Amino acid sequence: MQTISSPRPSHDFDMDDWRSGYRSQPNEYAYEIEDIDGTIPAELTGTLFRNGPGLLDVAGHPVHHPFDGDGMILSIAIAKGKAFFRNRFVRTEGYLKEQAAGKPLFRGVFGTQKPGGPLANAFDIRLKNIANTNVIYWGGKLLALWEAAEPHQLDPITLETLGLDYLDGVLKPGEAFSAHPRIDPNCTKADASVGTTKEPRLVNFGVKTGLSSTITLYEFDFKGRLVHTHNRNIPGFAFLHDFAITPNYCIFFQNPVSFNPIPYLAGIKGAAECIQFNPKQPTRAIIIPRDGTSPIQTIDLQPCFVFHHANAFETDSKLYLDSVCYQEFPDLKGAKNYLEADFSRIPEGQLWRFELDLATNTGQAQCLIERGCEFPDLNPNHVGRPYRYVYIGVAHQPQGNAPLQAVMKRDLITGQEDIWSFAPRGFAGEPVFVPKPHGTAEDDGWILCLFYNAERHCSDLAILDAQNITQGPVATLKLPHHIPYGLHGNFTQDLAFDR
Ligand code: CO
Repeated sequence: MQTISSPRPSHDFDMDDWRSGYRSQPNEYAYEIEDIDGTIPAELTGTLFRNGPGLLDVAGHPVHHPFDGDGMILSIAIAKGKAFFRNRFVRTEGYLKEQAAGKPLFRGVFGTQKPGGPLANAFDIRLKNIANTNVIYWGGKLLALWEAAEPHQLDPITLETLGLDYLDGVLKPGEAFSAHPRIDPNCTKADASVGTTKEPRLVNFGVKTGLSSTITLYEFDFKGRLVHTHNRNIPGFAFLHDFAITPNYCIFFQNPVSFNPIPYLAGIKGAAECIQFNPKQPTRAIIIPRDGTSPIQTIDLQPCFVFHHANAFETDSKLYLDSVCYQEFPDLKGAKNYLEADFSRIPEGQLWRFELDLATNTGQAQCLIERGCEFPDLNPNHVGRPYRYVYIGVAHQPQGNAPLQAVMKRDLITGQEDIWSFAPRGFAGEPVFVPKPHGTAEDDGWILCLFYNAERHCSDLAILDAQNITQGPVATLKLPHHIPYGLHGNFTQDLAFDR
């Protein structure tokens, strides 16, 4: 059963509306948000941080793909019914050099080239650490993440860039540290003075890939101290953007893709444009025990391409993993650039559940959400555990590929789907679930969703009551400017409003 609510009648989105959310935002702001519809819940306290490309051009030269845009962090600090907005670019080495030069000096992984054609780009294999994918507050540090290199540390209040961060010597210069860490909410810790205690732990990975791949796993305690690390080697090229955890395992999907570096080296294509999807090969689940010593298990599954996993959990000898799957690699299918993308030619993401049987080494898959979707989230207290509700960005129309314009809450037990849509002129970003401070039910909380409102050419933060999303936002915080479509973020209750 589905309940869909939208303030306006449904019809197709307008491509120019969609494109207008991809204009650069070169300005940096800091102000209290004054224009609010509804009321910010009085108990909602903390800070939403979000990352994404802030510039879609360098000095007038457009990027080929938004994933190549310079990272810009925003924070919305909320307390006592008020909200304070701030945004700042991450002062990466590449951003500073290009802004000073007034022209592009680096190639982008997703196909942005320096001016001057292939001759100017051939054999330039330097990576520009653009710090644009995620931002997380952990161990007293605010870190901007980009999966192919080390994090940048920022001041959590002013968002000023403090520099590259090596996690107290854990990382070497240039070492990969994924933009998708997972927080295990409830790790058992043996402590001689107090017996067994429970504490949250940040689990993350870095991958080095070529003909074979090395995955390095890291676990940090809540003070940011490394408690455990180990390396595992797997055969073949591996494009690993995300992973999932359970109390005992880290689970990766090795997509059935190969990498032909020649067009990249020749200066014709970006590295990610040299990825080829092989529909005859399986997608391989790689199950790595967190203890660091037990053997790896692999299970071959139907071919699909996965960027993001929603969650995983264990029961008996089975693992369950919910992932957003594409029927093939969702590249631009030959479009001149992302703004000319033909949605009808690009496969949509759908949420699938994989049941992995560790005793028989077999897997089964079942589609949970057919509607085009991306950016799943859940109650953080259920990461790695059985859970009932997933929150996810979805298309307004039930079939086919289209931009995300709505937020869905799916009940994984009953199949009930509740949707709040920002269509026709709103375009949704990643929903972030925030549990209520004294809530007991899994869905007792709010969904925070920054969406682009083409009607105003501005962005708005919607705060939805997760138990009643079809009633619409309890508060809409209207920014007096736009923020280009972003990627990932997190809410922390540890930082209150003290601007
Ligand atoms: Co991601």
